[in-house]
Amino acid sequence: MSITILGIESSCDDTSAAVIRDGYLLSNVIANQDVHKAYGGVVPELASRAHQQNIIPVVEQALRNAGISKKEINAVAFTRGPGLLGSLLVGTSFSKSFSLAMGIPMIEVNHLQAHILVHFIKEHQKQKDIPEFPFLCLLVSGGHTQIVLIKDYLDMEVIGQTIDDAAGEAFDKCAKVIGLPYPGGPVVDKNAQQGNKDAFAFNRPKISGLDYSFSGLKTSFLYFVRDQIKENPDFVKENMMDLCASIQHTIIEILMQKLELAVKQTGINRIAVAGGVSANSGLRNALLSRVETLGWKVFIPEFKFTTDNAAMIAITGYYKYQNQEFASQDIAPLARFPY
Ligand code: KG4
Ligand code: ZN
Repeated sequence: MSITILGIESSCDDTSAAVIRDGYLLSNVIANQDVHKAYGGVVPELASRAHQQNIIPVVEQALRNAGISKKEINAVAFTRGPGLLGSLLVGTSFSKSFSLAMGIPMIEVNHLQAHILVHFIKEHQKQKDIPEFPFLCLLVSGGHTQIVLIKDYLDMEVIGQTIDDAAGEAFDKCAKVIGLPYPGGPVVDKNAQQGNKDAFAFNRPKISGLDYSFSGLKTSFLYFVRDQIKENPDFVKENMMDLCASIQHTIIEILMQKLELAVKQTGINRIAVAGGVSANSGLRNALLSRVETLGWKVFIPEFKFTTDNAAMIAITGYYKYQNQEFASQDIAPLARFPY
């Protein structure tokens, strides 16, 4: 019998619904929220209001694109956390109502685990390399930076993580310092391609083991730019591309250094990357260069699966459905989510 899962994602500022049948993606609809652009970051209250407006049209579109009716859905999987509580509430409440109305089970999903499981989404008429267990995943998003050891679909262990800011946050905050719009990561990436990565050097963190730290880098960048502007008010304008290339290079070097250490410590050289920052072209190139130099096998998701999407929630739901891991109607979202 076929298993068809409706996935719902509403943890931050993207409202998304997707349908996965037997591991194959049938549809994945994402409504972005432009309302935050004017504020230089996500405004939680505005995000939850926009989710409320978007959720039903987005689900209807996902069902239409999949060419199925709601009666064909076996379970609804939703992001329980981590994320913004008000945003999570919208997806959770929708899923509860949908589950009750249709008489189908609900499946709670950890957003971070879901980012990693994008590597298992299959698409008709597309060949894809799927990582064998165990493998390591560098999970880099706006809210999280972790090195995760994946032993099985639902068996993961965080072996390193940031003790302060996430890598995406470092991109976004540094971008803000030089007047770039939110989210800064993609703009920095684009500008970096025309800049000199060795033009400026910034402080690197000295953290032991596999953990990361990015708050010192952000401060070092802020003070450097502030001091330069005192000398030359046009400093940022004149050096925009080089600033972007240098800060991006530093963030990537920090990420790669701990990843190389993780490979050494675990002896595992199958490396996946996931999360919003995995869209970064410099990071992708740095990973691919290790295929040649260190013999790694590298798994990089398609761009559409890097940032928040419900396809990743649906695929996680698909594996949990097989274990009959269902949630009850009294479940509440969690802003923080332990593995
Ligand atoms: O995974 P995601 O969509 O949301 C969270 O769960 O946080 O990640 C969003 C983050 C933002 O910080 C954004 O700036 C960053 O991913 N990002 C990038 C790029 N595209 C998105 N960072 C660097 N380079 C990119 N091309
Ligand atoms: Zn995310």
